[in-house]
Amino acid sequence: MDIISILEDKKHGRALSREQIAYFVKGAADGSIADYQLTALLMAIRLNGMDARETADLTMEMAASGNMLNPDVGGTPVDKHSTGGVGDTTTLVLAPLVAACGGKVLKMSGRGLGHTGGTIDKLESIPGMRVELPEEEFVSIVRRVGCAVVGQSPQLAPADKRLYALRDVTATVDSVPLIVSSILSKKFAAGAKAIVLDVKAGSGAIMPTLDASIELAKAMVSIGDHAGRKIVAVVSGMEEPLGSHVGNALEVKEAIDILSGRAAGPLKYVSLFLGSQMLVASGVANNEEEALTKLNSALESGAGLRKLKEMITAQGGDCRVCDDVSLLPKAPVLYPVKARQDGYLSHVNGTALGLAAQRMGAGRISKTDKIDPAVGFVMEKRIGDFVKAGDTVCTLHAASEQNAKETEQRILDALTFVSDPTPKARLLYALVKPEGVTELND
Ligand code: URA
Ligand code: CA
Repeated sequence: MDIISILEDKKHGRALSREQIAYFVKGAADGSIADYQLTALLMAIRLNGMDARETADLTMEMAASGNMLNPDVGGTPVDKHSTGGVGDTTTLVLAPLVAACGGKVLKMSGRGLGHTGGTIDKLESIPGMRVELPEEEFVSIVRRVGCAVVGQSPQLAPADKRLYALRDVTATVDSVPLIVSSILSKKFAAGAKAIVLDVKAGSGAIMPTLDASIELAKAMVSIGDHAGRKIVAVVSGMEEPLGSHVGNALEVKEAIDILSGRAAGPLKYVSLFLGSQMLVASGVANNEEEALTKLNSALESGAGLRKLKEMITAQGGDCRVCDDVSLLPKAPVLYPVKARQDGYLSHVNGTALGLAAQRMGAGRISKTDKIDPAVGFVMEKRIGDFVKAGDTVCTLHAASEQNAKETEQRILDALTFVSDPTPKARLLYALVKPEGVTELND
């Protein structure tokens, strides 16, 4: 077998055999195939696709390219994964809530990528928090506390690490077989037995249309189901940031505010919906209604917030931030961005807002950049809201007056106002199960 004949086959749109797939995945993981040949293959897959059998084989070979965990966490290990969004802090809300209801949340998260935030960067804004834990410690925290959130271990699915880095810089991210295999190989390797996927649709999402997001969700559910996992996908809206806060410490604060009962809104709503799917998928609740009742009572009793404190303490962090959010890093400059005209907010460019946060220092431009945990912004208006000229639409938390002024125009450019009333953005579109697709209304 050789890489050139594999390239030749995929160039002509022919299906690759399991052996061919195993050959190039091994070459990706051990470095024996060059970057230029891998990227040519990635582009051929992006253009000519893969059928369901090839996608399943690719997923399994990538999962097996490193360690495969089979952790004993004292219950069904459940994971949730979002395809990436802006102001999308559901993990920090639902991991402790699901744990408070008896779930075992084994969560490996990423760092920020491009315009999207990463849960690991957010958690690191909590003083002392450790996000790189040895496997045994990670598993023992899940067993004892019920949840732990750590960075992706380099020993898991190493083929994905190499392929993902190449895709990011060769315009080959938006391919269904490549996304499915990338996400699910990591979940399988980490030992998740129940998986809830949050597939985003809208202006800040990885796939360009709602139909494409539903196709991606169906492909992932089908592969997960065939691999014997309990799996469902929620297709949710990303027309604007889900929470009002964008930025690392700001998003931690918003999650704490929700768990403390001080804040509500779309982030809470979508987190509870995803959490209910996790409880059902892992067998802790018999149905969605029972799951929602459990989650709401964990929220109201403060059990969810107490779980977050336990998890932070177990991971070496200062859990006093949960009682006093002023202990989180704070930016020196607060700067209101004001509307220039009257109108209804009709459209938000989610990608542009994510990039504005990245430019403020909340994300990285190059891989080695250090992020500033304190900076970001709070959106004061949502799609459908009416604003008057001079109203504050967004409050910047900036490192300097100069940076705030530079960011102001980027924020205004990302917002579209119209004179006629416009509806709110949809939060939930569809629930995809192995049995079929159900449309959701919120
Ligand atoms: N997240 C991943 O981990 N992989 C992808 O391909 C896309 C999103
Ligand atoms: Ca993410």
